[in-house]
Amino acid sequence: MRLAGKVAIVTGGARGLGLAISTRFAKEGASVVIADLSGADEVAADLVKQGYKALAIQADVSSEESVAAMVEKTVKTCGTVDILVNNAGIASTVMPQPFEELTVKQWRAILDVNTVGLWLCCRAVSPHMRAQKAGRIINLTSSTAIRGAPFMMHYVASKGAVIAMTRALANELGGDNILVNAVAPGYILTDSNVANADMSAKVSAITLQRRPVKRHGYPEDIVGTVVYFASEDAGFVSGEIISIDGGGTYH
Ligand SMILES: NC(=O)c1ccc[n+]([C@@H]2O[C@H](COP(=O)([O-])OP(=O)(O)OC[C@H]3O[C@@H](n4cnc5c(N)ncnc54)[C@H](O)[C@@H]3O)[C@@H](O)[C@H]2O)c1
Repeated sequence: MRLAGKVAIVTGGARGLGLAISTRFAKEGASVVIADLSGADEVAADLVKQGYKALAIQADVSSEESVAAMVEKTVKTCGTVDILVNNAGIASTVMPQPFEELTVKQWRAILDVNTVGLWLCCRAVSPHMRAQKAGRIINLTSSTAIRGAPFMMHYVASKGAVIAMTRALANELGGDNILVNAVAPGYILTDSNVANADMSAKVSAITLQRRPVKRHGYPEDIVGTVVYFASEDAGFVSGEIISIDGGGTYH
């Protein structure tokens, strides 16, 4: 119950890593707001049925209006917002492509969600966190940004920006006791990645060969570090990026 009494928004919380984070946050005692394009209702209803505190909000993180409504509904229903997990992203649908073949439309679409969307969410929660002189923001970046992974330059750039934004935000918000950190997962076998069998077999083989810890990564491998950043245990940690990929990348 390390998050007892806290109100946490998890964007993209209905699937993949976001679902694992929402579920663990609820079990750690948080009132968890599952904000997603779709699927949040089912996840929240299931958590509530199990006796946890959860609220579903349909939200598009790339829309200013939608993000404002997400935070307004959270504060109206739960009283405040203590924790924001910026997990929503265009991720599992990204296919490998040489950088010369990417289109401007693909670039703008991914930056709009993964980078601008993250900024919109931080901007919307900051007045509430500043007012209470406390808050935690945890961003999902990616080991691809640390390694400079090839054949997904728009995705890698969007996640490289998340590392830079985490550090800049840590500096801007630290004065109000708002701590900003990020996790950088390696390739994780989420349902979406497993469903994409061809890609998953290829990427898993490469990552297994490279990483010292010779096993696959699963959504549950990510959640402990996210809970840590959200908890009292991380009360003096900000601007930090933790790689979670069995030792495949470190910095
Ligand atoms: N799974 C991995 O291997 C991996 C590795 C490194 C980093 N990450 C990062 O972790 C996060 C989650 O990844 P995942 O694999 O679970 O992805 P996923 O594609 O399975 O799920 C992403 C979730 O975000 C939601 N989403 C997408 N666009 C949205 C928008 N505009 N507004 C609100 N919600 C939106 C989707 O509906 C979905 O629920 C992403 O930011 C991703 O870049 C994932």
